[in-house]
Amino acid sequence: MRIIIAQDYQELSDRASRIIVGLITEKPDAVLGLATGSTPIGLYQKLIEKYREKVLSFEKIKTFNLDEYYGLSPEHPQSYHYFMRKQLFDHVDIKPESINIPRGVGAEPEVLCQEYNEKLKTANIDLQVLGIGNNGHIGFNEPGTSFNQETFVVELAAETREANKRFFSSIDEVPRHAITMGIKNIMEAKKILLLASGVSKAPAIKRLIYGPISEEFPASVLKNHPDVTVILDREAASMIK
Ligand code: PGA
Repeated sequence: MRIIIAQDYQELSDRASRIIVGLITEKPDAVLGLATGSTPIGLYQKLIEKYREKVLSFEKIKTFNLDEYYGLSPEHPQSYHYFMRKQLFDHVDIKPESINIPRGVGAEPEVLCQEYNEKLKTANIDLQVLGIGNNGHIGFNEPGTSFNQETFVVELAAETREANKRFFSSIDEVPRHAITMGIKNIMEAKKILLLASGVSKAPAIKRLIYGPISEEFPASVLKNHPDVTVILDREAASMIK
């Protein structure tokens, strides 16, 4: 794993955007794996700026998102479909048909998983953006998930629902299930870019770097991937030497 320590969140977002701009410049039809959550918002803002400056175009880009809450429609303000539109897609020239996110409604969850997993089989993701949960989750792959897992319906860990309740009016409204790319799907990306910001992520980063590879800490699987870049701000890096 290549580890970059940025001064602050701005620099972290800038470094991440430069990696993606570099990829798109080299490969205008690149396939990006994208993530939701607070961490990549700064990255998406930088990409929007670069698009406005005509440094890059998303016209030929395809995207695949990691996950979606089960039971939330694409119009629900807490759905990841909505998040991606507001944070990135509405502001750039990506074609709607090039956007792929697991559906959260419309069929039984197992059917939705199978449908997304089929798409991922031929996706050939060039670069997957990841955040990391305090418990080491990547996507919604919670501790204990098999490294061989493909897209599946996950029951969200209590701590994940707790961490995400800030976006809902009460904990009861936080969905209990999500559809997520499995660890196996994530590991198929050619490159991985993991971002972590803030002191609350410092213990997870410490465990990622110094801990063993174990299904109890899903992000540790990334040590088996040949091309991972981790970008941290100083706070997230505060427990590593
Ligand atoms: P965050 O979420 O970016 O909102 O911290 C990351 C995650 O839980 O994967």
